[in-house]
Amino acid sequence: MLVMNKLRILSAALIAVAGSAVVSSCGGDKRSTGMEFARNMYDPIAYNPDQANKNFANGQTAQLPPANTMPVGYDKVDEYPNTPEGYLAASNNLFNPLTRNKQTLTEGHTLYLNMCSHCHGTQGNGDGQIIKLEKFPPPPSYSKGNSSRGGAMKDLTDGKIFHTITYGLNLMGPHRTQLNPTERWKIVMYVRELQKL
Ligand code: HEC
Repeated sequence: MLVMNKLRILSAALIAVAGSAVVSSCGGDKRSTGMEFARNMYDPIAYNPDQANKNFANGQTAQLPPANTMPVGYDKVDEYPNTPEGYLAASNNLFNPLTRNKQTLTEGHTLYLNMCSHCHGTQGNGDGQIIKLEKFPPPPSYSKGNSSRGGAMKDLTDGKIFHTITYGLNLMGPHRTQLNPTERWKIVMYVRELQKL
């Protein structure tokens, strides 16, 4: 019994000593980051964007892009904001850059079926599945309906359709993040076919 008690006292003392060693090693200089491991991972060879840099005349690392350059993934539609003026400007200045051939039309058709037909219907008559199932108000037919923004749907230009796919319109959501510009243009090409039906 006595031996057990002595052992207990001894182990408690040992734990106390070890514990204080751990605590005291963390204290001290509060500004110290402690031991550094693999220092070169903190100091990369490349300049950080916010770092001073004597290689440039203005002494900064981050430089403005040269005039007339485009960032990677640039979307021309950014020049045509989601406003009535942007919609009209897109109509006057944005034209389908893709060549109209069997392949682009087929791809446009597939994308249209996947992304638009559940509302607009496979023939663009405004009778997609969701209209029947959810009592969703039908969008106007591409060939026979009228745009809520004025004019006949069959007269909608490349730019207006591209602008609509990008930003959406009222109950139609924007498709900018789901479809890249090339995919949007393929769909525009196919919608222009549906306008003729
Ligand atoms: C959630 C259902 C829905 C989806 C999905 C949808 N639309 Fe629409 N779309 C509508 C509705 C509703 C309108 C009518 C909006 C209004 O005028 O208020 C409309 C309007 C339009 C218009 C007419 C725009 C104008 O200027 O009047 C075009 C063009 C169009 N959609 C194309 C597309 C294309 C292409 C797709 C696929 C990328 C698509 N829509 C996906 C519901 C949808």
